[in-house]
Amino acid sequence: MADTAQLIIDGKTYEIPVITGSEGENALDISSLRAQTGYVTLDIGYKNTGATKSAITFLDGEKGILRYRGYPIEQLAEQSEFLEVAYLLIFGKLPSKEEYDEFKTAVTMHTLVHEDTRVIFDGFPTNSHPMGVLSSLVSSLTAFYPKSIDPGRTPDQINRTIVRLLAKIPTIAAWAYKGEMGHPLNYPRNDLDYCSNFLYMMFSLPTTKYEIDPVLVDAMNKLLILHADHEQNCSTSTVRIVGSSHTSLYTAIAAGINALWGPLHGGANQAVIEMLEAIREDGGDIQKYVKKAQDKNDPFRLMGFGHRVYKNFDPRAKIIKKAADDVLSKLGVDDPCLDIAKELEEIALKDPYFVDRNLYPNVDFYSGIIYRAMGIPTEMFTVMFALGRLPGWIAQWKEMRENQEPIGRPRQIYTGETERDYVPISKR
Ligand code: SDX
Repeated sequence: MADTAQLIIDGKTYEIPVITGSEGENALDISSLRAQTGYVTLDIGYKNTGATKSAITFLDGEKGILRYRGYPIEQLAEQSEFLEVAYLLIFGKLPSKEEYDEFKTAVTMHTLVHEDTRVIFDGFPTNSHPMGVLSSLVSSLTAFYPKSIDPGRTPDQINRTIVRLLAKIPTIAAWAYKGEMGHPLNYPRNDLDYCSNFLYMMFSLPTTKYEIDPVLVDAMNKLLILHADHEQNCSTSTVRIVGSSHTSLYTAIAAGINALWGPLHGGANQAVIEMLEAIREDGGDIQKYVKKAQDKNDPFRLMGFGHRVYKNFDPRAKIIKKAADDVLSKLGVDDPCLDIAKELEEIALKDPYFVDRNLYPNVDFYSGIIYRAMGIPTEMFTVMFALGRLPGWIAQWKEMRENQEPIGRPRQIYTGETERDYVPISKR
């Protein structure tokens, strides 16, 4: 591949540097385009625009490949556990046993949140959506750890903030659920691993002794691993651009949570279940909904289908689909929504509209089926996505800060009114 490309504007030729990544991806480096030519580029939605160079996650949308720090997602989902994958994403390597034990202990010892958090928490109406509670309480961590606001923090101080986020967000998430249910809050336990502790805080009640189910722990580890990072998606790009102003990591993560909430992004897992329920309640006429999804005059879209990058199967969807069968059979759960999902997938993948547009099931299509079988309510599905994506957001923020990237500030093409004089209201 040549190391420059030529751009001809008004008869003048400009040399544009070409950069090639470790997986052979090529890019035109337009960092000095405006200085050279006076032109900017326009790419609404950034469908063709790289925002950074990153060594964290590689995905190939055509081949359905996803790797974290070079390790295939299929191997990590099968053999690793979430906190180890979090370490890999954030620090760039698999930990030794000693490093991993130290990391797990550090996270365990920070799972408590300041007791004043309950005062904020009690201020939310009972039926508050847990994503709004989560993003607000994550932002509030700057109040309990004001030194986190200082942009000149040392690596040790930053690592403590990272551990606090990994440790406290499951507690906050479980409390958001308990608050919505009107149940008493459960405090974290130091004798439980990361996923067991979350399930305990979510489902333990004073009236019964909560038994940790290894099937649920395994399913949760797998789902969190599959959601842990996905290069420059909407919420990760949000964390990077908010973090580029040197605000606290807590506020950048809170921004990421809010971006993830949207139904076109992480909110899709909740929207998928609502869609499957609607199809079931409407008599299960799947063809009707497949046709609705194609009607440009109908706002209905097949939630959980399609992807900005994957123009082949989302590798995570394949793993989650198999896990859904495993978990439901182990739990003895018969969910009609799973049958509808499978039939919907089969019909859509034969329909020219979806085939021509390379629309396949994505990570959100089956994940809600498993969460529901685990007893997690629909409104908590995107919170589960946020729990999984947290180490990816942290890793991407850390890379952006360590590479001393400038504040993000895109350009635009102005299409409004040209200059005109103000007219006082008395003369209008
Ligand atoms: C996630 O980016 C990431 O990596 C995200 C994510 C991650 O891990 O961070 O993978 C997580 O967000 C997964 C996506 C979850 N969202 C959904 O499932 C919502 C439903 N999907 C669509 O809204 C859509 O597919 C997007 C938002 C996911 C992608 O949209 P794009 O890339 O902007 O594509 P597009 O909207 O331009 O669609 C291209 C064509 C259009 O038709 P035409 O104008 O060519 O005729 O495909 C159609 C769209 O109308 N289309 C769909 C469709 N998705 C796209 N038609 C019906 N149903 C759908 N789901």
